[in-house]
Amino acid sequence: MTFQEQFDTIVQNHIDSLTKDYLLVLQERFKNEGLAMMNDMLPQPLIAAMSAEAKFLLSENAKRRDITIKATGNTPRNFNVVSQDSIAENGILIPSFFKSEVILNFLTFLNNNEPVHRIPYKPEEFIINNQQKAGDTHGWHWDDYTFALIWVIEAPKEGEGALVEYVPDTVWDKENPESGLKEVLGNREIKSLYVPQDHCYFMKAGTTLHRVTPLKNDSRRTVVVFSYASQEDLAKNISHETMGEIYENSKDLVGV
Ligand SMILES: [Fe+2]
Repeated sequence: MTFQEQFDTIVQNHIDSLTKDYLLVLQERFKNEGLAMMNDMLPQPLIAAMSAEAKFLLSENAKRRDITIKATGNTPRNFNVVSQDSIAENGILIPSFFKSEVILNFLTFLNNNEPVHRIPYKPEEFIINNQQKAGDTHGWHWDDYTFALIWVIEAPKEGEGALVEYVPDTVWDKENPESGLKEVLGNREIKSLYVPQDHCYFMKAGTTLHRVTPLKNDSRRTVVVFSYASQEDLAKNISHETMGEIYENSKDLVGV
């Protein structure tokens, strides 16, 4: 058996052990709120192993970003990142998670059985983000692709910031990002979610405006973000202005 086959077998056995009722609640939540959180998509030892891998990659390969992104309406990014190529080269579990057919099938189930696909753009497949200084934030934006699965590896205590704030069923106006953003924030209810360590959340990130609020103190919020595509995404020619600015290794960024 290859490593990937072993990984998939372990995950499939685990998912098969979850109750149908619980899974239907998650599916319903994803449909209604554009976001579903869980702490048991993987068996606990695998969560611990993936977490250890993410922390190791972060300690070895992190790059600091302190920038504002024009394409999302000049919102800030102040955090450390590990790019896809560093993770692909030095990681095992995170790439296996992304390649897993079992995970894709599970996410497809959560998406009301509408297909969820791997994205056709390597730099955005998986990345690690880490906020650690007071004020570190991942400012308002929509993702390029329809879905994101975010694993929270480290989280500050509740009340110390790094909340997920989000507005479901909204559209990124790429022609007028700043006024589009203001309009959504001025007119829509902003939902807020504290996601504890070792939980993950699946989000309709392409149609849900979202951010991670600034840390109130020096502490740590570390996530592994996986991006996935809808059937529709695969037919479109999706541009990647944001990702290029944040994650490309080859680029030396002003203000970094
Ligand atoms: Fe995002």
